[in-house]
Order: sequence, then C-alpha cells, then structure tokens
Amino acid sequence: MPIPSDPAEYKCPICNTSLLLNTKSLQCENGHSFDYAKEGYVHLLPVQLKKSLNPGDDKNMVVARREFLQQGYYDFLRQTLLTEIQISTNEKLLDLGCGEGFYTNFIADALPDTTTYGVDISKEAVKYAAKRSSKVHYSVATNAHTPFSEQQFDVIINIFAPLVGKECQRILKHNGRILSVAPSKHHLIELKQCIYDNPELHSPATPPDGFVLKQSTNVLKEIEINNPTDLENLLTMTPFGWKITPEKKRALLSNLPFILTLDFDLNEFVIDPN
Ligand SMILES: C[S@@+](CC[C@H](N)C(=O)[O-])C[C@H]1O[C@@H](n2cnc3c(N)ncnc32)[C@H](O)[C@@H]1O
Ligand SMILES: [Zn+2]
Repeated sequence: MPIPSDPAEYKCPICNTSLLLNTKSLQCENGHSFDYAKEGYVHLLPVQLKKSLNPGDDKNMVVARREFLQQGYYDFLRQTLLTEIQISTNEKLLDLGCGEGFYTNFIADALPDTTTYGVDISKEAVKYAAKRSSKVHYSVATNAHTPFSEQQFDVIINIFAPLVGKECQRILKHNGRILSVAPSKHHLIELKQCIYDNPELHSPATPPDGFVLKQSTNVLKEIEINNPTDLENLLTMTPFGWKITPEKKRALLSNLPFILTLDFDLNEFVIDPN
C-alpha cells in the first residue's frame, strides 16, 4: 500500500475535510473512515456519488481491454505518451479514468521520481491495477468529484475517459497541464465500415471547460489482427460490441487478417489564462 506523500492530499468525499492515514485506513476529523483494500487501493466513492451499483466499465469490458492491450497493440501509444509527459523530478501525476492501469503502472515504473496517482470509477478496474503496482496511489472515485484537495497535481493524464474541466482546474497547480488521448478522425475506421453503411469520422476533441489547447500530436498506426480472440476483445472493450449484428460479427471474424487503423490525438490542455 503506497503511503500518501502528503497527508492532506486526499480529502473526504463526504465532508471535504482532509483525510489522514491511520494504519490501514484514511480518516477525516468528522469520523468518516475509508479502509485500504488488500490490493492497496482505497475506495473513496460513497453511495451518494454513485449513479449505479457498479459504475464504470464492468468486468467483461475490463477483462477484454486487458487481454487486448496485453497483446501489445497499443504499446506504441503508451511509449509516445511517456515521451510527451516531460515531468520534472518529484512532481505529481494523476491518471484520471485509469482503467486497469495499463498506462499508469508503465509510467510509474518508467518515472520512479514521480508520485503517481490513479483514479477510476470502476472498482473492478482499480482492483486489477493496484494488484500490479505497489508504487501507484490508486483510488476508486469519480472524475466529477475527485478525492483530492486543491492544486495537488502537475500533470493529469486522461486516456479515453471522461474529463470534467472544473474539477481538473481545482486539483491542478496553476501551471499544470492535462495530457489527454482521444480517438482521431480515422480511428478504427475499418471496423466501423463493417458495422455501419455510412460510418462517421471522429471529430477533434474540444478542450475541457476552463482549458485551452496548447498543442496536439497525431499518433497513427496500422495494425494487423490475425487472432479472432483479439478482434472479439476489441469489440467487447468498445461500444461496437453491442452494435454489431451476429451475422456481421461472424463475417468479420472469418475474414482474417484484419487490417485496422489506430488514429489518436494526444492533446495538451492548459488552464485558460483569460
Ligand atoms: C475506455 S476506458 C479507458 C481506461 C484506461 N484509461 C485505458 O485507456 O486503458 C474508460 C474508463 O473510464 C472510466 N470512467 C467512466 N466514467 C468515469 C467517471 N465518471 N469517473 C472516473 N472514471 C470513469 C471507466 O470505468 C473506464 O475504466
Ligand atoms: Zn468526512
């Protein structure tokens, strides 16, 4: 269980006062207490902030994404992200919507002097992420009301997950920045062409409220999928899994290898000075 580096960095999701570490739990002055799970994460999503019983990605999606990512298809994106982070020694980084820690754990290992945090609303995903890293401070929480006190972070990373500008502004330092990965124009276009008659192209991501775009880097790669399991996992981890008809799915899986475009924008957003 990673010990919070500054005791006041977590705040109570119920009463907003600071949380202090007491053996294996975080406690506030009003008696609210949150235990660390044996995997080393802390659950900071009280029922009043939950919109469903098990919010976020469910176990099927988490497992499918994990198995797909383990095949290395997105390793180049992870490496590009790491290169673009350019964080100074002893700075603090938060992965908002970290999923099962594919990017978070890699970055924490590559940047040992950075204090790394990961937040996701899916307990299933955070449990998996925390099991595989003793360095990252993981919590189950919502991006809309993160469990941190003001101006904690130098960098927020956000990969295919929702982002709430106002909340990022609250927890980022004034000169902090967001590095966000979003699908670009032709992302998975060949898959869309198998499902829709007139597939739409992705439009560019807009800056979160209160932020402006500082720079954008396009990251493009063509991959070849030879294994039907990988393609099924890709369907399950995206909304295409429930949009594709059984006939189209059968046709798709029997027509390998499948050549697929991966097209991402890596956007850097900074707080709007105006
Ligand atoms: C497409 S996945 C991306 C996960 C990870 N960043 C990756 O790329 O492997 C989106 C993630 O956002 C999480 N998520 C959705 N709504 C959220 C919210 N309001 N607060 C925090 N996480 C959220 C989901 O549980 C899921 O893990
Ligand atoms: Zn409290």
